[in-house]
Amino acid sequence: MQQLSVLILAAGKGKRMVSDLPKVLHQVGGKPLLAHVLATASGLDATARLVVYGHGGEAVKTAFTGEQDILWVEQAQQLGTGHAVTQAMPLLDAASVVLVLYGDVPLIQPATLQPLVAEARQGRLALLTVELADPAGYGRIVRDERGQVQRIVEEKEATSAERALREINTGILAVSTEKLRRWVAELKNDNSQGEYYLTDVIALAVRDGVSVEAFTVAEPTEVQGVNDRRQLAELERFYQTRQADALLASGATLLDPKRVDVRGSVQSGKDVVIDINVVFEGTVRLGDRVRIGPCCLLRNATIGDDVEILSHCWIEGAEVGAGAQIGPFARLRPDTQLAAGVHIGNFVETKKTSIGPGSKVNHLTYVGDAEIGAKVNVGAGTITCNYDGANKHKTIIDDGAFIGSNSSLVAPVRIGKGATVGAGSSVSRDVPDGGLCLTRAPRKDVANWERPIKPTKR
Ligand code: UD1
Ligand code: CA
Repeated sequence: MQQLSVLILAAGKGKRMVSDLPKVLHQVGGKPLLAHVLATASGLDATARLVVYGHGGEAVKTAFTGEQDILWVEQAQQLGTGHAVTQAMPLLDAASVVLVLYGDVPLIQPATLQPLVAEARQGRLALLTVELADPAGYGRIVRDERGQVQRIVEEKEATSAERALREINTGILAVSTEKLRRWVAELKNDNSQGEYYLTDVIALAVRDGVSVEAFTVAEPTEVQGVNDRRQLAELERFYQTRQADALLASGATLLDPKRVDVRGSVQSGKDVVIDINVVFEGTVRLGDRVRIGPCCLLRNATIGDDVEILSHCWIEGAEVGAGAQIGPFARLRPDTQLAAGVHIGNFVETKKTSIGPGSKVNHLTYVGDAEIGAKVNVGAGTITCNYDGANKHKTIIDDGAFIGSNSSLVAPVRIGKGATVGAGSSVSRDVPDGGLCLTRAPRKDVANWERPIKPTKR
């Protein structure tokens, strides 16, 4: 079978975005437009992925430094789609078939493209088209009386009869690399825009007796390009509808599928319930029967079975054990590990902290760089003083310890097994197992105290 090269055109300026950021770096679903197209290419088992870049090229390349196997082709001047393809020719394997995609058409699916690639492997030219109610601005597909595709005419060159055609060119095509190489070498720029039109290769194929097969995509949004921020917003909504549908299909209840956003991937268990305005970022895993209240953000988190997350929680880089209860208004920061049945209550912040089974940190507390055992109770207003202005230090609280309210644990410090810290203590030395630590200043009482009074004005 012939190998597949995917050639992604992404040199356009994207002026209508009114942005310093190159267009293909704008995001849908938390990922650059170009990343979606590259992922689709990978989904097709492409052996080579080429990107033609121009405007803001260095920024685009930098954004993808993690992906080693992309072949970057510079098009210094944007002289048209045909010219862009010509620039890539020296890097394309002549024995392969090539699929041309656009870097600003992010939602195209591998399943839609598969038949085009198969057709190209049969020696034909495959073209992806779509019927639009309003075809303005696009190249029109011109067919003969038998319905065979003859050529593509760009809007600016079209007669009024041609302008009435509603089948348009998506720009996506597949053909043998060797044939495309011959045809792009013949392109001329004697048209109204002075550009080398890739679309002119259709007529050259017909001339050479290569049959042209048009595949029509049913869902126009899949081939919708991004030219301005309105279109970007439309694609975002369409993409989010797809994500919500996938969550519903996997057995999650969404109280409103329009008010959940997935900017990454969510793997959801059975009978999960997600309230409104929940945002997922990065990689999130939800166990069975997880309940998430309104207005929460979960980023790179693993949530165990039967966990309940109440409203307004920020959960990032955390692992939450089965049956835990979080929030409302809790913030779990990276490297938080909560064992089964842990309770984290309102206005509690955790960072780089592990908390053992059944422990409770219920109110107004900060625990950072801490190791907390099982069945520990951390009282309201407790602070681990983990930072001395230069370095971070660790706090260890052993199993069964009880930390009274409003205590400062000045790290490095260890609270022993079953030990008790009295409310309002400032603890800067270790507390032995089973001991009580109290650092309160002794109480002083003065009877019949007379408060100072203001002198009376005359
Ligand atoms: C092109 C097609 C048109 C089709 C439309 C679909 C041609 C001549 N016309 O029109 O038939 O209906 O797409 O959206 O091909 N690009 C480069 N280098 C260039 C010019 C463009 O890399 O010199 C890239 C752009 O970044 C973009 C893509 O090619 O990703 C399409 O360019 P664009 O200018 O949007 O093409 P249109 O003129 O709209
Ligand atoms: Ca365009």
